[in-house]
Amino acid sequence: MLNVTIDALRPSCRVEPNLFGHFVEHLGRCVYDGLWVGTDSSIPNTEGFRTDVVDALKAIRPPVIRWPGGNFADDYHWEDGVGPPETRPVRTNRWWGGLETNQLGTHEFIAFCRLVGAEPYLAGNVGSETPRTLRNWEEYCNFDGDSTLAQRRRANGAADPFDVRYWGVGNENWAAGGCMAADEYAAAYRRYATLLLRQEVGGEPLRLIACGPPGDGPAWTRSFFEAFHRPDDVLSVSRMWGYAPHFYTFAGPEEVGATEFTDEQWYSFLSLGAGVEGLILDQRAIMDEFDPERRISLVLDEWGSWHRTERTGPDALWQQSTLRDAVLAAITLDTFVRHADLVAMANVAQLVNVLQALFLTEGDRLLLTPTYHVFDMYKGHQAGARLEVVIEAGEVSVAGATTTGLQAVSGSASVSDGVVTVSLVNPHLHDGVEVGITLEGATVTTVELAQLGADVPQAHNTFDDPERVHPRRARVEPAGSGWSHVLPPRSISVFTASIT
Ligand code: AHR
Repeated sequence: MLNVTIDALRPSCRVEPNLFGHFVEHLGRCVYDGLWVGTDSSIPNTEGFRTDVVDALKAIRPPVIRWPGGNFADDYHWEDGVGPPETRPVRTNRWWGGLETNQLGTHEFIAFCRLVGAEPYLAGNVGSETPRTLRNWEEYCNFDGDSTLAQRRRANGAADPFDVRYWGVGNENWAAGGCMAADEYAAAYRRYATLLLRQEVGGEPLRLIACGPPGDGPAWTRSFFEAFHRPDDVLSVSRMWGYAPHFYTFAGPEEVGATEFTDEQWYSFLSLGAGVEGLILDQRAIMDEFDPERRISLVLDEWGSWHRTERTGPDALWQQSTLRDAVLAAITLDTFVRHADLVAMANVAQLVNVLQALFLTEGDRLLLTPTYHVFDMYKGHQAGARLEVVIEAGEVSVAGATTTGLQAVSGSASVSDGVVTVSLVNPHLHDGVEVGITLEGATVTTVELAQLGADVPQAHNTFDDPERVHPRRARVEPAGSGWSHVLPPRSISVFTASIT
């Protein structure tokens, strides 16, 4: 039996709900079809948004949603998306193909956030616009006085400010956001921040988020902070709330699609995904050299699986989501909870019909992917206090497979109002693991289990079989300060334990 020991009496940092955040880009069928169908659609909708998506998203308590990109953000002009819909310009979508009708703009996005109870995170355009444009967008959204921009917002139907706190200053500015070197981006960032940072929402400065490095890019991050950190400018660190690397788990070149992979590819993919922990530790360590008081937060505002997909066109970056993606999501979310002192926000890419989507839509049909179920099962961690977990497991060992960094059992724990949430992943394809879980210092009164697994690793949900990968729920009998349970092969288990 493998011991999992949790110190229930020493809660440490808060698990920010924003670690379970989302991302929506004007890309493929994410926005149009996936979210927005318009108020005249025959598809049931709430203020133009698919009611099925709104309801299912609300159920998992989405804390924050990033929009409008991604690459798209650095070619987006916010004024295209405000005012009467019929007057909005139609543009080409430079990165992902097709036409952008701007029917979903700022007002609609804010309405969506309010419908689902999430906070908006707007990604500004640095690659093709100016600090003034972003400053104007912020004033349009947030100013409560009588400026012309605030009056324009009111004339467009929003009497009250939108109170947008999170503002991205560009996106991947080393590539689609302007192909800048780290020091060029640092200079650009300072110009934007200078205009934005005096603004407040709810008595606090705006939370400005800088773009992070390409890949795990230690050199880029170091160059960026060297150029950004000006000893003669005592305000420079306080001008940044977050620094945002992206972390995608790319399928190997020999893989043909999200649903076809060998046992070895299962392991190599998850082993790559487990590398998110290294990214967090490495990036924070470099940031600490320049920001030892940790005033700048680490934000992973794009993460997820990236299989072989069409890169442009109507279905750009559409992919299926299998049990393997769900296990990747669980390993990633556990990593965020374990490092909740180091990471302040994370946004899975993307919400609907794109990359590691939570939802797939087809006409008026909706399906919940296995990744959706992981977010649902893990929602108990949101706003809890992190608990230290010691798991007596090493790396998975399978002959012929790459398993570097992939733990035989990994997980995380948190506590909230006398309820402990323990999530555990067994990524082994064939072997179950019996675990003995002890909550040191507590008496466990009840344990509920939600478990996700499937008969084959390639299992996924389709419109004809939408419930194939679906959590099963059960009660587990506690004994004193813990319980034991067999984690089936290739499974995700979330235990919810009431303690006294
Ligand atoms: O999420 C898809 C794309 O991936 C985003 O637009 C970009 O930021 C990243 O490269």
